[in-house]
Formats: sequence, C-alpha cells, structure tokens
Amino acid sequence: MTASWLKLGRRHVWRPYCQHQTAPDPLPVVGARGCRLLLADGRSLVDGIASWWTAAHGYAHPHIATRVRAQLEQLPHVAFGGLAHEVGYTLAARLASLFPESLNRVFFVESGSVAVEVALKIALGAARGTARTDVVAFEGAYHGDTFATMALSDPVESMHAGFAARCSFPIHHFPISESDEAFAARFASVAPTTAACIIEPLLQGAGGMRLHEAQVLRRLRAACTKHGVSLIFDEVATGFFRTGPRFALDEAGVVPDVVVCGKALTGGTLPLAAVVASDGLFDSFLGSDPAMALQHGPTYMANPLACAAAHASLDLFDAGDFGARVSALQAKLKAGLAPLATRRGVREVRIKGGVGVVELESGAAPSSASLARRGVFLRPLRFADRDVVYLMPPLVIDDDDLGALLAALAAELTG
Ligand SMILES: Cc1ncc(COP(=O)(O)O)c(C=O)c1O
Repeated sequence: MTASWLKLGRRHVWRPYCQHQTAPDPLPVVGARGCRLLLADGRSLVDGIASWWTAAHGYAHPHIATRVRAQLEQLPHVAFGGLAHEVGYTLAARLASLFPESLNRVFFVESGSVAVEVALKIALGAARGTARTDVVAFEGAYHGDTFATMALSDPVESMHAGFAARCSFPIHHFPISESDEAFAARFASVAPTTAACIIEPLLQGAGGMRLHEAQVLRRLRAACTKHGVSLIFDEVATGFFRTGPRFALDEAGVVPDVVVCGKALTGGTLPLAAVVASDGLFDSFLGSDPAMALQHGPTYMANPLACAAAHASLDLFDAGDFGARVSALQAKLKAGLAPLATRRGVREVRIKGGVGVVELESGAAPSSASLARRGVFLRPLRFADRDVVYLMPPLVIDDDDLGALLAALAAELTG
C-alpha cells in the first residue's frame, strides 16, 4: 500500500536525477536506525550507500542527536556575517587541526557543490590581475551540480557532459592515467594561463568510482608548485576515512592548497561542507581595498546545528579507531566482491577502503527495485557504455548487515 503522504506529494515533488516519465515511486522511508532504512510498509533495508556516503556512523546516532538537541535549545541559527558563535569557531579550529599545518583557513557552506565553487573562487581570486584564468580538471570527475562544478565534471560521459564548453572560464580536462612525461608536457602547455587544478584524490566518485595511484597526486603537486598553480583536493567523497585514512591526502602524503570536505562531516545529519585553504591563499585576499575580500556568504553559513552535528561526528571519528575499522571493512568487501569478478556481465571489481565497486556491461546491473526486494538499498550508476554498482555503506556496518548486502548483490548477479 502506498503511503498517503507519498500519494499527496508525488504530483508536486521534483525528484533528484529522476526521469519522472518512467521512474517508479521512490521507497517511502519512515525512519532510519544504524545501517537500516525503515520503510512505511514495515520492511527494513540495509543501506549500502549511506545516504550518498554521509551516514558514516549509521543513522540516528545518539551522540550526534544529543549535541544537536542541546544546540537547538541554545542557538539554532544566527547569521555568520558580523556575528560569531562558539560552535562554528571551535569547529573551524578543530577542522584546521586535522590538516597539514599550512591549511588553516576554514570557510563553511551548506553543500559540497558550493564548497567547490568557493574553492574555485579562492584560487581564481588569488590569480586576479594575472593571465591565469583557466582550470585543469580530470576526465571521469564529478564535482557537483552547480554550474561551475558541472563544467568541471567529465565533459563527455557524465550526466553534466557539455557544460565545460558553456563555462565562463576555460577548463582543460586531462586524462588521469598517462605517463609522467606525457602529463608534464600536457600540464606545461596550459600552465601559463592556469590558476587552479582540481582533483578528487585517489577515488573519483559519482563520475564512475574509479581509482588512481598516489603518484598521480604527487606529480600533480610537483607540477602545480613548479608552475604556480593552486591545487584543490575535492575530498567531499573521500574525506573522513572513506578510502582508509582520515583523508586521501594523508595516504598520498600530498598537501594541496585547498581541501574541500562535506558529506560525512556531520555524519549524515545536517548539511555542512567546508573549504580549508592555505594561509598563502588567505593572505592573497588581504589589503586595504574592501573589494579584495572573498565575496561569498551563504545565508545558512556555519549553521550552528550543523556545526554541532559536525563536532559530534568528529568526536565519534576521534573515538572510533576508524583507520583499523575501515581496513577491516576493506578486507570484507574484497572477500565478498572479488568472487563476483567472473559473473556474467562483470568487467571489474575494485575495492578501496569502505568502497566496493562492481563495474558491469551496460544494462547488466540489477535495479534498485530488485535489490530492495532482497532487503538492501543500492543505486547503481548507469553510463552509456557501462553500469557501476557501488557499495559505500556506513563505516560502522556490522557483519550481518554487510553480509546481507553482499548476498543480495551476489544473488542478483547470476551466471
Ligand atoms: C567529490 C564530490 N564533490 C562534490 C560533490 C557535491 O556535493 P553536494 O552534493 O553536497 O553538493 C559530491 C557529491 O556527491 C562529490 O562526491
């Protein structure tokens, strides 16, 4: 039976990434606990993608709820312009302490896309008055759904294909895997006019869940330093232990000029993202002219409820030995998914930290509906030439729920 509120609202709600003419109804969720989504019809599904990778600690974590509730009583919101609040200022200091020393300045926004926009604004702003107007991005990238971030995303095969050509600044999309020599020559050819280079370190997420080696980041850092280009790491997906260490930059041993993080920052509770920039970039906005300031200030910037949720999420990350937890999860994902490599239609299985990927021939991925009938929620990505089933469950998932996810996928990929 369809929930009455779903019937009421479905003529009015415009859903994300949805072809309304053909899409089935979404699953009505009435609650979420731990790693499970509770549906209106009484079923509970294991959530294999943690609400787009935000719910790292599982849903309804009591510690996050307690801190948000206390903040709600004290100060749910106040504008960040001309006013300050403790929870935002202490969060900025806490976040800065998680990054290498030069990354010190934190700008809060409400989404990963806007955070990437702000990172670009910072890098392009720092280059104002020079010939540097361009940005280097990568094939296979996904950086969000706002106009500039769509333009940064893969120009050919992503859902945002074609936007790069319509962007107000030139974007050069590089292949991610090529020889060091080819990369160096390609970079040098655009460097004089390039202000910034942006990459999702180690794992390209929604653009296809592809992995690359740390060497890609090292040579990028070297090229950016050599040519005076600002390097931006978009860690919206990879941050907070998703690929193993706290940040992908920790594994790579590379320090960018700006890091963007979001998603698991609040443990999937409230929308918050952060841009963490170097002192050098911050200083480039200083001057006696007010017009030199970073001209950005979202209404809900550093929303205190979201900042409280972030503090609580960071408390849990601090207490939880997530490095070890995620390496155990990686081993279990590997054991469960590697045998699927020989199934019909499967092209490749890839594992990195708390991310398991099964890449298939186009049309070979099971639908979310049939996976839901097996008790799990997954949302395969579909491209023109391939399907990608990915598992990015809450990092705290237990063996039973993980087993249910793996079993459901294995049962769907027969042959
Ligand atoms: C790497 C990356 N950057 C940016 C974004 C955009 O974040 P948001 O959806 O919060 O705008 C995402 C979202 O999936 C992402 O994975």
